[in-house]
Amino acid sequence: MLTRRSFNALTGAAAVTLSAPGIIRAQGTVTIKFSHVVAPDTPKGKGALKFKELAEQYTNGAAVVEVYPNSQLYKDKEELEALQLGAVQMLAPSLAKFGPLGAQQFELFDLPMLFDGRDQLRKITEGEIGAQLLGLLEDKGISGLAYWDNGFKIMSANSPLIVPDDFLGLKMRIQSSKILEAQMEALGAVPQVMAFSEVYQALQTGVVDGTENPPSNMYTQKMHEVQSNATLSRHGYLGYAVIVNKPFWDGLPEDVRANLDKAMAEATEYANGIAEEENDKSLQAMMDAGTTEFHEMTPEERAEWAEVLRPVHEEMSDRIGADLIQQVYDALGTAS
Ligand code: LMR
Repeated sequence: MLTRRSFNALTGAAAVTLSAPGIIRAQGTVTIKFSHVVAPDTPKGKGALKFKELAEQYTNGAAVVEVYPNSQLYKDKEELEALQLGAVQMLAPSLAKFGPLGAQQFELFDLPMLFDGRDQLRKITEGEIGAQLLGLLEDKGISGLAYWDNGFKIMSANSPLIVPDDFLGLKMRIQSSKILEAQMEALGAVPQVMAFSEVYQALQTGVVDGTENPPSNMYTQKMHEVQSNATLSRHGYLGYAVIVNKPFWDGLPEDVRANLDKAMAEATEYANGIAEEENDKSLQAMMDAGTTEFHEMTPEERAEWAEVLRPVHEEMSDRIGADLIQQVYDALGTAS
């Protein structure tokens, strides 16, 4: 069982101080290191490459963007520290990973059974609440530029996951979010926080039994090769906030920053435009691979999961803020 102490040890405290902005200049150019943890061939990976292409084009090469995928430079926790220290300038961590920065309100996106599809999600990411959340980062030396989609998560393991009782005692890898911890505990599973780069091996060796991720992440990390069962539960959402080191960003020449903002707006539209299709393609590819049995839930099974998972909203209201959760319900037009 993951105790509070071991959870803190794993996620670490965000006790880093802000250092020099990290502007690297050579012959009038600005270098932006963009680090992330997923494969290049994912919604986030492709979004990062689109940003690079447009940023270099719109600034006529005054800005050079170096994209480092697949945790090549840093794993989950380290990349947040590296951003604050100015060792990298841009990241797109999943919204589940902002707790260690002291912005645990982002974990509202992890609430299970909250969003009924992407249109509902957009009401938050493109609305007032989304903007308010990004604003929370400013006094942490970080500016939030955009929300990028991945998709809705599916549950996987090496045994069928049809009803909540199927989770009893399973060790399930989660991202560093207290909401996800509560979600897995509600199902009777044992949550284990683990860096994304370590998940495949942990599944392969049985260190954990299962996990949750959108199909694009599951497929590009080959998790389907080491998971015999998956349920298309779409019980929760996984997306990103693109963030930059604020002193670096604020210190850029105005014309360069304006062109980078334009590149980011277009890269965002691109990334959010491909995310659903990328996930559909990944799911199909895994089905074709035939190593995993995929279960589509019946409405009755979904209702059973919801009965177990919805109380997590109330249980975690102190962490996220009851008012904020109510604002989210109001924006989504759901009663509770
Ligand atoms: C995970 O750790 O499962 C995801 O946050 C990885 C990612 O960045 O999509």
